[in-house]
Amino acid sequence: MEATGRTVLYVCSVLLILTGDCQLIHIDPLVSHVIEGESLLLSVETHFPLDKADIQGTWSYTMISGTKSRMLVTFTKENVITDMTYGDHLVFRESNLSLEIKNLKRDDEGDYHLSLNIKLHNQTGSIIKEEKTVLVTVDVPVSNPVIEKSPSYAVIEDKANVTWTCSVEKGTRVKFKWFRDNVALGASDRYHFSQDSATLLISPVRKEDKGSYHCVASNPVTAGQHSRAVELIVYYGPYNLEVNSGQGLRTGEVFTINPGEPVFFECQADSNPPNSYVWISKSSNGTDIIAEGPLLEVRSYKLAQAEEYLCRAFNNVTQKQDEAQFTLVVASLGTGKEKHTQEGSSVSPLAITVCSLFAIGFMVLFFLRRTCHPKRGRFFSDLSTFESTGHEDAKEDFGIYEFVSIPGKMESAQASCRSLARLESIQDMHTTIYDVIRHVPETPSHSLLK
Ligand SMILES: *[C@@H]1O[C@H](CO)[C@@H](O)[C@H](O)[C@H]1NC(C)=O
Ligand SMILES: *[C@@H]1O[C@H](CO)[C@@H](O)[C@H](O)[C@H]1NC(C)=O
Ligand SMILES: *[C@@H]1O[C@H](CO)[C@@H](O)[C@H](O)[C@H]1NC(C)=O
Ligand SMILES: *[C@@H]1O[C@H](CO)[C@@H](O)[C@H](O)[C@H]1NC(C)=O
Ligand SMILES: *[C@@H]1O[C@H](CO)[C@@H](O)[C@H](O)[C@H]1NC(C)=O
Repeated sequence: MEATGRTVLYVCSVLLILTGDCQLIHIDPLVSHVIEGESLLLSVETHFPLDKADIQGTWSYTMISGTKSRMLVTFTKENVITDMTYGDHLVFRESNLSLEIKNLKRDDEGDYHLSLNIKLHNQTGSIIKEEKTVLVTVDVPVSNPVIEKSPSYAVIEDKANVTWTCSVEKGTRVKFKWFRDNVALGASDRYHFSQDSATLLISPVRKEDKGSYHCVASNPVTAGQHSRAVELIVYYGPYNLEVNSGQGLRTGEVFTINPGEPVFFECQADSNPPNSYVWISKSSNGTDIIAEGPLLEVRSYKLAQAEEYLCRAFNNVTQKQDEAQFTLVVASLGTGKEKHTQEGSSVSPLAITVCSLFAIGFMVLFFLRRTCHPKRGRFFSDLSTFESTGHEDAKEDFGIYEFVSIPGKMESAQASCRSLARLESIQDMHTTIYDVIRHVPETPSHSLLK
């Protein structure tokens, strides 16, 4: 330390000669934020050997407003005069010229000013003048903020304003920040903040304002204190009305479907509360409400030509509505599966005859195999109930039988009993024939009573 002191002294001496300026004292930091009731040490670093210098200085105080100023301590190496009205509120450290202020009150806020004249023993004749000012602020920590919304109930977009208020029970120089869904909010043409941001006015409210709001309060001595989150519910819509269908072919607003296909349309729109929907059929006669609710089923075989439909969504809270028009055309789409189905229906009488013949043929085969193999073989290997009971009552054979012929392997034709629910796989088979086998049960009355 002694060596450092000498170096500084030397450097300073040179600087002093060259420029007449030298930092012989240092106070860190020059702004202090203190919690009310705590003590503060205005700690002075002296960059010269105190014992090898004559000093004479003062600590003084000026209110932040600059209106009131007073001397706190006047000192030389030999004597120290402290303002007696402060009592033990102030403690001056002669060893390094630091000043301690105890139990700070808000009134103690202000500039604390150290003024020092130094006369180094080896710099005969020259006096170095040093000045330092520390701004001290005294604050009360911020308590948990409380968030409030006005009105407290859900609001309708474009028609209502919402005022958010954030308040704290304790705290000085409090600043507020606002967040929606954890994203900080800034001023805009609809977002108006009060000076300290304690209130946020949203005018008018829009759909995008919905979400979870919270405020954060802070001051120089308290990091952000978060309020609880409060939901803003906004009634809005309908927006983005759309009509969709899983079936048929869509070209813009025209849906083309195959004849015979029942088609479902779904109407969707973004809205709070949920919309009510009506479906309207437009014809030369005028318009007809044909259904209510988000789904519409159209039986295409009823249609002879293109028909116009309309889905209208209505939000009975916002009193806003939207509608989407579309056209339904019945035509053969002539592709893939649909083509197959369509051909099938056009040659249906022939197909039925051929199918029946096949069915009879397979039935004969089937029963022949059954009689040849009294124990059920692979025919019913998948029917565990049959095997577990060993019961061969004819009524167990009720159901729909599916015959699948694999080309070139007629002998190994397989038969399996399937539930109606699995019938959708029909079109994926190479050749599939269905028939319903009905046997008159041996004891019908018994089974019915059960
Ligand atoms: C000044 O002295 C006080 C106590 O005497 C001490 O707490 C403080 O750290 C000193 N400051 C410096 C800069 O050394
Ligand atoms: C200061 O002066 C004294 C004599 O008064 C001398 O002995 C000492 O070396 C000087 N120190 C410096 C750092 O110049
Ligand atoms: C919302 O605030 C605007 C001014 O920003 C005012 O003109 C309007 O009347 C207010 N609306 C309601 C419902 O208070
Ligand atoms: C708005 O519609 C809903 C159903 O969509 C209904 O339950 C409610 O009573 C309606 N409210 C008014 C004010 O009509
Ligand atoms: C038009 O209305 C008449 C009776 O109101 C009805 O008989 C006719 O089928 C309607 N035509 C169409 C295309 O809906």
